Amino acid sequence: DSADKGEFRHYMLKEIYEQPKVIKATMEGRVTDSRVLEQALGTGAADLLANVRHVQIIACGTSYHAGMVARYWIEELAGIACSVEVASEYRYRKHVIQPDTLFLCISQSGETADTLAALRQAKQAGFRAALAICNVPGSSLVRESDLVIMTHAGPEIGVASTKAFTTQLVSLLIFTLALARHNGLSEAREADIVAALRQLPGQIDDALALDGKIAELSKAFMDKNHSLFLGRGAMYPVAMEGALKLKEISYIHAEAYPAGELKHGPLALVDSEMPVVTVAPNNELLEKLKSNLEEVRARGGELFVFADGDAELQEQPGIHVLQIPAVHAITAPIVYTLPLQLLSYHVAVLKGTDVDQPRNLAKSVTVE
Ligand code: G6P
Repeated sequence: DSADKGEFRHYMLKEIYEQPKVIKATMEGRVTDSRVLEQALGTGAADLLANVRHVQIIACGTSYHAGMVARYWIEELAGIACSVEVASEYRYRKHVIQPDTLFLCISQSGETADTLAALRQAKQAGFRAALAICNVPGSSLVRESDLVIMTHAGPEIGVASTKAFTTQLVSLLIFTLALARHNGLSEAREADIVAALRQLPGQIDDALALDGKIAELSKAFMDKNHSLFLGRGAMYPVAMEGALKLKEISYIHAEAYPAGELKHGPLALVDSEMPVVTVAPNNELLEKLKSNLEEVRARGGELFVFADGDAELQEQPGIHVLQIPAVHAITAPIVYTLPLQLLSYHVAVLKGTDVDQPRNLAKSVTVE
C-alpha cells in the first residue's frame, strides 16, 4: 500500500501531483496543435453536435462543480443554453427537457446512484443523446450513454477528488470547443484556446511549485472553525470546489459564495475568526472583486487571495496574496484549482485527520 504512494505521504497528495501527467493523457489524440479532433468524441459526434440546441448537465459532488464551470464555457464559446443540476434534485422534481437536448452526465466512478437514476429517467422523457464524461471504463454510466469522453486520470484512491476533477474540466473544454465549432466559434479562437490547453501541464507544474508557500499559509486555518470562499464567474465553482475540499478533509466549515452576494448575507459573519479565500485571476471581473475584498478587510477579516501577478493586489496586514502564474482566462479555473487542493491538504495534515479516508464519506455513493 505505501509502495503505491511512492514518495508521497498520502494518496491525495500523489494524485494532486499526477495532474500534469493525467491532463496530458486526457488531451492525447483529442487535440492537434490548433484544433480539437471531433472524431475523437466518437462516431456520429459531428452530426450530433451540429444539432444540439441545449445542454443539460447532471452530476454530484465534485463532478457537479466541473459541470458548473463547463456551463460558463458552453454559453460563452458555443452560445448554447446550458443548465446544470445536482442529480439528487433533478431526479426528484418535475423537469422539462428542451428540444434537441444533449444530456451530459459527469461522474468519476460512473456508478453514482443518483446520476444513473437521473439519466434513466431522462431517457424515458426523451432527449437527443446522452454524453458521459467518466473515469471508469465499462461502468454503468459509460454503458448507458451514446457518446463517451473518458478522462484518463487513472485510479483515484483519495476520497476527496482531485485529478478526476481537473481531467473532467479538460474533457469538458474539449467537448465545448467541438460544440462551439458548429455554432460560430472562429478557427482563430479555437486555436487560441487549444494553445492554452496545451500549456496546462507546464502551468500546473508551476502551480505545484507553490506547495511550500501554501503549506505556510495553511497554518492560519488550523484553529479556525469557519471559512468563506469567494469567486466570480467561472471562478465561483472553483471556489465551491475549494470549499468542498476543505470541509471534506479538514472538517472546517467552508462556504462558497459568488463574490457579489457577499453583501447579501455572509458579510455579517466576517470577522478575524473567519478567513476568507478568494480566487481572482486578472480578468474583467477583478475590479469588482477588489471592492468586495475591501468590504471584508474593513470588517477585520483575514484575506487569502490567489491572484495573477498583474492583479496589483498588494500584500499588507490582513491580506495575504499568493501569486499564480498568468494563465488564459478560459483555462484559469483548471489552474486555480491546484492551490486550493494543496491548501485543504495541508490544513488536514496539520489537523491530523485521515486525509485519504475522511470520516462518514465514501469514494462512490452507489446506494441512496
Ligand atoms: C462522492 C465522492 C466525491 C464525488 C461524488 C460524485 O461524494 O466522495 O468525491 O465527487 O461522490 O462521484 P462521481 O463518481 O459520480 O463523480
